[in-house]
Amino acid sequence: MAIIIAATLKSRLMRGAVAVFLLLEGKVALVTGSARGLGRAYALRLAKLGADVVINDVNLRAAEEFNERLTAATVMDEVKNLGRRSIGIQADVSKKADVDGMFKKILDEFGRIDILVNNAGGRLRPGAGWASSVPPDDLRLIIDLNLVGTILCSQAASVPMKQQKSGNIINASSIAGLEVSRSGRGADYAVAKAGVYHYTRLLAAELGPCGIRVNCIAPGIITSSRVIATGQAPEYLARACPLGRLGKPEDCANVIEFLASDLSGYVTGQCITIDGGYSLTQMWPSQDYVWPG
Ligand SMILES: NC(=O)c1ccc[n+]([C@@H]2O[C@H](COP(=O)([O-])OP(=O)(O)OC[C@H]3O[C@@H](n4cnc5c(N)ncnc54)[C@H](O)[C@@H]3O)[C@@H](O)[C@H]2O)c1
Repeated sequence: MAIIIAATLKSRLMRGAVAVFLLLEGKVALVTGSARGLGRAYALRLAKLGADVVINDVNLRAAEEFNERLTAATVMDEVKNLGRRSIGIQADVSKKADVDGMFKKILDEFGRIDILVNNAGGRLRPGAGWASSVPPDDLRLIIDLNLVGTILCSQAASVPMKQQKSGNIINASSIAGLEVSRSGRGADYAVAKAGVYHYTRLLAAELGPCGIRVNCIAPGIITSSRVIATGQAPEYLARACPLGRLGKPEDCANVIEFLASDLSGYVTGQCITIDGGYSLTQMWPSQDYVWPG
C-alpha cells in the first residue's frame, strides 16, 4: 500500500500537479431554493468542496428579484465554472408531484443523491402573524413552504439514500423557531421553523441505523440579498449582536461545510445556531420589527 501511495505521489509531482483531496469529491448534492441568497452560497460551497450540485428553485432566475450579482449567467453555470456538474430543476418543494419529478430527474442524471440541503423557505407574507390571529391562508402557505417542503424532499431523498446505506440531510430552521418573540408576532414562520427542528430530530432517529445523518441550522439575521433589499438588516441590530455584526451567507456556508462532510461524522439530530450570539442577549428588539427569515 505504501508503495502504491508513494508511486502515485511521485507521478503527480513529476507532472507538476499538486495532490488536492476534496472533502466532497464524487458526491451529488441537491440544494433547494438555491437560485439566490443562502441557498446559492451553499451550492457554491459544496461545489468548491468537490460535489456535483443540483440547483432547485421555484424560479431559477430568482437572483434578479433583488439584483443579486452572479459571476455567470446562472447559478448552474457558476457551479460548472468550479469544475463540477450541475443541472437546474424548477420545482415547488411544497408540491409532491414537483418533488417526485425532481428526484426522478436527479436519479436519471446522476444515479444517486448524497447530500440534501432543505433551504427553500422564508417568511413570504409581510403580515404580523400574531399567534392568536394569524390568518389560516398565511399559516398554510408558510407551513407548506418551510415545513411540508422540507418533509416532502426528505422523504423523497430517503428512498435512494436508504438503498445506498448513506446520506446526509441538512434542514434550514431559524432562531425564530427556537426562541419566543417578545410580542408573539411572526407565529406562522416561527411554528414552521420549530417544526423543521423537531422533524430533524425524528428523522435522524429513524434514519441513523440506515447510515443517514440529519441535522439542521438556525440562522439569525443573515444579510442575504433579500434581507438587505427589504431593509431587514439595520445597523442597530448589528450592535445588538455580541459579535458586533450581522451574519453573512458565508457564515452559514461554513456550518453547512461542517455538517455536509465527514468532519461531523458522529453528529446527528442536532441544530446549530448561527447568529453571532444574538439570541443569547435579546430577541426581537421592538414590536415593529418583522423577522427577515
Ligand atoms: N436570511 C436570513 O436572515 C434567514 C434567517 C433565518 C433563516 N433563514 C432561512 O434560510 C433560507 C434562505 O433564506 P434567504 O434569506 O436566502 O431567502 P431568499 O428568499 O433569498 O431565498 C429563498 C429561495 O427559495 C426559493 N423558493 C421560494 N419558494 C420556493 C418553493 N416553494 N420551492 C422552491 N424554491 C422556493 C426562492 O425563489 C429563493 O430563491 C430560508 O429557509 C429562510 O427561512 C434565513
